[in-house]
Amino acid sequence: MSAALRTVELPAEDDTLEFGRRLGAVLRAGDLILLDGPLGAGKTVVTRGIARGMGISAPITSPTFVIARVHHPDSGGVPALVHVDAYRLGGLEEIDDLDLDTDLDTEAAVVVEWGEGLAERLAEDYLLIRLRRREDDVRELTLEPHGSGWGERIERGLA
Ligand SMILES: Nc1ncnc2c1ncn2[C@@H]1O[C@H](COP(=O)(O)OP(=O)(O)OP(=O)(O)O)[C@@H](O)[C@H]1O
Ligand SMILES: [Mg+2]
Repeated sequence: MSAALRTVELPAEDDTLEFGRRLGAVLRAGDLILLDGPLGAGKTVVTRGIARGMGISAPITSPTFVIARVHHPDSGGVPALVHVDAYRLGGLEEIDDLDLDTDLDTEAAVVVEWGEGLAERLAEDYLLIRLRRREDDVRELTLEPHGSGWGERIERGLA
């Protein structure tokens, strides 16, 4: 069962960061977030916000030359954040090689930029976030939850 789609308008980069921060604060180990949207849409800004909400203050940049980076909360606790850029992945075998399912089973939340289409290989439960850059530079963000765990948390985290 999926909760209803929800669209949020984010006029400035700080709004996008704050959106991510609120989402990050309600994430748990095992959560999978897929970010979709064109170059410069704001996928990394959302991820940076998520990291802040998870208590991670390390710099978050697009993992351009590495495919995945692991960031641990400053407290040393869980969940860790696995930040993946699927843009340059060569194919489905490479996705399997990352062992993201192992991360999900244990102690990480996984955020995948360019992740749409990978979901069903990893988890039945995931949150798809689509970002669109309007002509006036405002970002429109649409939440598409899949699975049962998201509706209440989205309400709680993003209300
Ligand atoms: N409302 C906004 N929300 C997010 N970013 C914004 C906003 N307005 C302007 N920006 C700018 O847009 C850019 C978004 O870049 P970001 O790296 O997050 O995009 P991306 O989707 O990760 O791109 P890529 O596909 O190259 O990884 C940043 O330079 C940011 O400053
Ligand atoms: Mg990026």
